[in-house]
Amino acid sequence: MPGLVIIGAQWGDEGKGKITDYLGENADFVVRFQGGNNAGHTIVVDGVTFKLQTLPSGVLRPGKTAVIGNGVVINMKELSGEIKRVVDAGGSIDGLKISDRAHMIINYHQRLDGAEEKYRGSLPVGTTKKGIGPTYQDKIARIGFRVGDLFEEDLLKEKIGFITSYKKDLLNMMGVGEGDLFDEPLFDRMMKWRDMIGKYVCDTSDLINNALDEGKRVLFEGAQGAMLDIDHGTYPYVTSSSTCAGGACSGAGVPPSAINHVVGCLKAYTTRVGEGPMVSGLEGEEEKKLQTLGGEVGTVTGRNRRCGWLDLVQARHSARLCGFTSIALTKIDVLCGYDEVKVCVGYEIDGEVVTKFPSSISKLNRAKPVYKTMKGWGHWDDADKMVKKGYDSLPQEAKDYIELIEKELDAPVDIISIGPGREDTIIRRSPWHS
Ligand code: GDP
Ligand code: IMO
Ligand code: MG
Repeated sequence: MPGLVIIGAQWGDEGKGKITDYLGENADFVVRFQGGNNAGHTIVVDGVTFKLQTLPSGVLRPGKTAVIGNGVVINMKELSGEIKRVVDAGGSIDGLKISDRAHMIINYHQRLDGAEEKYRGSLPVGTTKKGIGPTYQDKIARIGFRVGDLFEEDLLKEKIGFITSYKKDLLNMMGVGEGDLFDEPLFDRMMKWRDMIGKYVCDTSDLINNALDEGKRVLFEGAQGAMLDIDHGTYPYVTSSSTCAGGACSGAGVPPSAINHVVGCLKAYTTRVGEGPMVSGLEGEEEKKLQTLGGEVGTVTGRNRRCGWLDLVQARHSARLCGFTSIALTKIDVLCGYDEVKVCVGYEIDGEVVTKFPSSISKLNRAKPVYKTMKGWGHWDDADKMVKKGYDSLPQEAKDYIELIEKELDAPVDIISIGPGREDTIIRRSPWHS
């Protein structure tokens, strides 16, 4: 019963969509287990670009079961648009399954997301404003709407009664008002959602566990990254879900023993969207260069991603939390433009060098990066030639970079991604067999 989890090893946008799609070839199931349409996972197939937000990245491979698990929060309107885009592009969503335990994002969650950010004044999180935080807040407060509620009309009407009256008061109290949010009654909207997705809804935990019992291969696709984890990330500059490997168990309803492999998807440098500390962050022209070379613009919000050198203090923290058994190193091609590359190997805080990632935001804000400078590897051959020749085709300097990562993270770099396309991938060992 092989279960494999893919986790972003930094602050998101490491290339999880590409790696999930690539490894999905050998999977029977691809499962999203947390987050929602704050995620933007890019997949390039035969030169055509797909940006998936709530649909699992396995949906583009025919014959796979693509599961939206119980830990995901779903914006039904947006999901409908996403399904249409995939179908219009010739894809199929016949294998889609949606958990009856997943929570739904309602339009007031989005408005509250914006209002909360305003309340934070000079300390905003820089959220995607998709309503993710407020939806998870309601889940924990036990006033959320689950997909399964759509099939319990009497209970649903009762819930809508007290929850909407509470939300209207809250919206007014926060000074944003209800505006047109309830012009179309929520019950009517929900019935349309039921018509749209009803046939895909089931107990996905049971489905996945049965598949694992039958020896099927299940790939769990993380969204965001370990440093955005609600517990272990740079709180409060995080998202509102458990993004580390353990989140796959609660977010998909499988036991820890179902997870055999954990692939850390690591970008060859660091990026971050939104607020919060990033010790190896660059500024000015240096940052602009990396942003331009890497095309670092947010998939969901269009914001420029902040850029910096690879931070091994941070990546080690992620590796410890998630227990990576393999690393999928992405975007190493972007660094071809440098004569020298730097890697952050320590933080200097108040005159002392530390190698452990601190939990304190003020310490992180005071931390100065301690760099190791390495020789760059210059420009290399076309990706298809490199892929054909495999790992040996990489210049020694790039191999030194990779070996340093392996040593520091205590995990093998099994996959090296050298371009956005499916085919731009050097595989040293299949993570399914590690
Ligand atoms: P995700 O959220 O982790 O799935 O990552 P995103 O899709 O938000 O951002 C990753 C970006 O890098 C996308 O535009 C990908 O097409 C692109 N990408 C992924 N892997 C590589 C790679 O190895 N090299 C290059 N140059 N681009 C890549
Ligand atoms: P993928 O899956 C990068 C960031 C936001 C913000 C913080 C909280 O594509 O890697 P939220 O809307 O979740 O409450 O915002 O988290 N964030 C991401 N950054 N990639 C993502 O997803 C992200 N999802 C959320 O920018 O800083
Ligand atoms: Mg992304």
